[in-house]
Amino acid sequence: MSNALEVTNLKASIGDLEILRGVDLTVPFGEVHAVMGPNGSGKSTLCHALMGKSDYETSGDALVDGVDIMGMTVDERARAGLFEAFQYPTEIPGVTLNDLTEAMAASNPDDDGYAARESATTKTLSMNPFRERFVNVGLSGGEKKRSEMYLLGVAKPKMAILDEIDSGLDIDAVREVAAMVEAMRSDDMGILIITHYSRILRYMDVDKVHVMVNGRIVQSGGPEVAEELESGGYTELQAANAR
Ligand SMILES: Nc1ncnc2c1ncn2[C@@H]1O[C@H](COP(=O)(O)OP(=O)(O)O)[C@@H](O)[C@H]1O
Ligand SMILES: [Mg+2]
Repeated sequence: MSNALEVTNLKASIGDLEILRGVDLTVPFGEVHAVMGPNGSGKSTLCHALMGKSDYETSGDALVDGVDIMGMTVDERARAGLFEAFQYPTEIPGVTLNDLTEAMAASNPDDDGYAARESATTKTLSMNPFRERFVNVGLSGGEKKRSEMYLLGVAKPKMAILDEIDSGLDIDAVREVAAMVEAMRSDDMGILIITHYSRILRYMDVDKVHVMVNGRIVQSGGPEVAEELESGGYTELQAANAR
């Protein structure tokens, strides 16, 4: 059976700077994995390289449900089932969340599941107060993440990557976001959470934690890996895995 995401020896560079130096990562369907790492280790680059942002020169393989996405445009990758929730969700004045999901449905006429997913996700995430408002305009940090999770629920990708979903949030909002991610979990989707801090993982049931240092995954294991980092920090791992 294929996995939600299977990354092999992924490298990404800009000019002479090799940011990702051979990343291997597999996320099976139904699982939630976390990538942790210090600032500058390449976590966002991993998201962007997978999503197809054009800044990088890449090599290596990335399969979504067994389909190689590396030669695809951003749009094609999204259609192949890859979704990225942004660290800094964009405000879109003049466009409501309803407008946005209608546009999503209209551009995917072969998928007749939108209405059902909209009403289910509206209920799960208590979205009714937000659907008629302009996307992210005037929302708190936690509410913007709620919008991102709503779009995730409506799009229902095969593989969702959530970049620093917890950054800039107070502890109550972190706990809420953790609960929302857990609520989105499903057997036919893989989820990858990118984070600097282990605190969000305390409120979740993650299957695996991977540690990224200097453009490589240097350690993988169960949730205990996050706890160890909490006490030991990244310094030793960084020294042992210098570029
Ligand atoms: N567009 C870019 N141009 C030049 N350097 C970049 C660019 N994007 C990322 N980098 C560099 O690559 C490294 C990894 O960045 P990033 O992936 O954002 O790390 P993280 O998300 O783990 O904090 C950093 O040293 C950063 O300065
Ligand atoms: Mg980042």
